[in-house]
Amino acid sequence: MKIFIDSADLDEIRQGYLWGVLDGVTTNPSLLKKAVGKRVQAGEQLDLKAYINQILEVARNTPVSLEVTEFSADKMLDQGRRLYELFNPTAGNVYIKIPVNPAFKVEDQTHFDGIITIKKLTGMGIPVNATLIFTPEQALLAAKAGAAFVSPFAGRIDDDIREKAGLTFSKTAYYPADGIQTDGNYLEDNGIVSGIDLVEQCVQVIEHYNFETEVLAASLRNPRQVREAALVGAHIATLPFGVIQDMLKHHKTFEGMKNFTADIVPEYAELK
Ligand code: E4P
Repeated sequence: MKIFIDSADLDEIRQGYLWGVLDGVTTNPSLLKKAVGKRVQAGEQLDLKAYINQILEVARNTPVSLEVTEFSADKMLDQGRRLYELFNPTAGNVYIKIPVNPAFKVEDQTHFDGIITIKKLTGMGIPVNATLIFTPEQALLAAKAGAAFVSPFAGRIDDDIREKAGLTFSKTAYYPADGIQTDGNYLEDNGIVSGIDLVEQCVQVIEHYNFETEVLAASLRNPRQVREAALVGAHIATLPFGVIQDMLKHHKTFEGMKNFTADIVPEYAELK
């Protein structure tokens, strides 16, 4: 499974690439706002274009998703093309992130604007990451339109299922891949019992029909969820910096280190 960092924080991205574990970067407007806000607050006069170019350079040879902020087909197409033309020359690694459905509510008439934009951008040779995927059928349509990546949001499905059931939880709390049963019935959303179940069903649909599209498991909040995304065959997982760090931690690893260190024979350490 490829690992992307879900961040627009240049320091985090640099660190992850130094560790040698990263295969790409995903950003979104909220992540960019957070990263830029942090620098501006620290007194930096930030040149956004130069900042994004630095991210692209650090991630050279690996995909970096830049999301559009418009939500009509014409405007998303225009912005997606502009972002690509502006930034892809830097390192040739820009993917344009398009919401699979940019409507704000069910009454809106813009449900297909995402799909139309994905189709048009991919037709121009611009690779697309279809985002905000919450059903395997959205993933299927995005793949048919030519998306290079489809991004199911695992954590947000878990949030939704827990909220609807009136459960209290923290954002990073583990939610079982197999779902939670109450009174003999699974808590679910539209037949999906967990975020990992959503990822798995997307993988099944994409692989069953041999699409070249890759399933990019997004909104992963803890290491166990990353493990489960890998076990169900996600092609890519995009992870916050903290989750990447947490993936290496185990109390028995720490204990083992302490014990081995206490047992070091001085002559052994000095062997030449
Ligand atoms: C994906 O590309 C999104 O940026 C991200 O994974 C959303 O995660 P969140 O639900 O934890 O905000």
